[in-house]
Amino acid sequence: MKTNSPVTSEQVRAGYAQHVVPSYKRSATAPVLVRGKGTRVWDADGKEYLDFGSGIAVNCLGHAHPRLAEVMKKQGEQLVHVSNLFLHPNQAELAGELVKRTGPGKVFFCNSGAEANEAMVKAARKAGAAEGRYEIITTLNSFHGRTLGMIAASGQERLREGFGPAMPGFVYVPYNDLAAVEKAIGPKTAAVMIEGIQGEGGVIPATPEYLLGLRRLTQEKGISLLMDAVQCGHYRTGRFQSYEWILESSGKKGDFLPDAISMAKSLGGGFPIGAVWFGIRLSDVLSPGTHATTYGGTALACAVALEILKIIEEEKLAENIAARGEELKKGLAQLSGKGWVGEVRGFGGMVGVTVRGKTHAEVAEALAQVGLLVVPAGSDVLRFLAPYSVSMNEVQEALQKVESTL
Ligand SMILES: Cc1ncc(COP(=O)(O)O)c(C=O)c1O
Repeated sequence: MKTNSPVTSEQVRAGYAQHVVPSYKRSATAPVLVRGKGTRVWDADGKEYLDFGSGIAVNCLGHAHPRLAEVMKKQGEQLVHVSNLFLHPNQAELAGELVKRTGPGKVFFCNSGAEANEAMVKAARKAGAAEGRYEIITTLNSFHGRTLGMIAASGQERLREGFGPAMPGFVYVPYNDLAAVEKAIGPKTAAVMIEGIQGEGGVIPATPEYLLGLRRLTQEKGISLLMDAVQCGHYRTGRFQSYEWILESSGKKGDFLPDAISMAKSLGGGFPIGAVWFGIRLSDVLSPGTHATTYGGTALACAVALEILKIIEEEKLAENIAARGEELKKGLAQLSGKGWVGEVRGFGGMVGVTVRGKTHAEVAEALAQVGLLVVPAGSDVLRFLAPYSVSMNEVQEALQKVESTL
């Protein structure tokens, strides 16, 4: 595909070096991307890449989906934004669709994952305020965003370095360790917050026993269970929520429902939107005047999110990513032990591979050189986060590109 880029990669790199805050770690050869279609993107020099990063688990329908382009144009011509002091049909409809897929409750809309988590933590604190409960137990290695609140919530010290004093009220325990949570719960505990699959931490899924144990424990203690599903939710695993997949695939499907679930990334497929589903326990805690954001749930963002849900259903993309993810995992597992490929893990479209003998950044760069984009995570993991629409041929092509770098 012709790119028609009016600028060269060198010009763009120079523009970044001169005018863009250097807060992202990019390799010197990071591609300058100018166009996308489906699973593929092209850089300013016309080079083609298979995009198995999807942003970072964002572009669930790949790039330039014609129906998303159409809905953006149509809604853009009709109504983009009104104040949340007024109402519009799209927000009510999207909230209804999210409730239908999750369980009884209500939805708060915002613009990003970190904001969704902030809302979730505020609600849990407010629910516990009368009893003096404000502490949130989170897990080591977790990632919940980059606001001051969420770097305090994340169980990674490096995120807080230089930004002290950290916001108080977070207690960290090892992931998948139920006894540690039980020990950490005290009279000040308001909630436990976990990712169903730790994403930035290296694609580490919760065990079914941990999920069920946390639900039982938090119910017994009268505190909230909050799930950060920003990365692993919204069909990334082939199920709407990762806990459905985790519990189902271990034969432990049951009545598991947390008290709140944060969402972003795939919810908008690249158009910024975040949301929190609150179950009955927390659904009316954020009362008038207690929380807000100017842009939360605009008519345009909700129209995009609604169209994404329709496309996923009509084109059976949850089933597709579950099947393609298994093919990818199987193919990578066959390469395990060869070259840099170590352990392979994950569910559906969230696959992690540990890197041996090299750094994950070195391997990500080598893969980009052969035209495959993936995303580093943790200290030694590469994430494969293909769009839900990825084809069998594209999975095979990605595996061939991996093999060519061994
Ligand atoms: C699990 C999780 N929570 C929260 C966030 C933060 O989302 P955002 O960057 O949209 O604020 C991320 C982003 O990677 C994430 O993976």
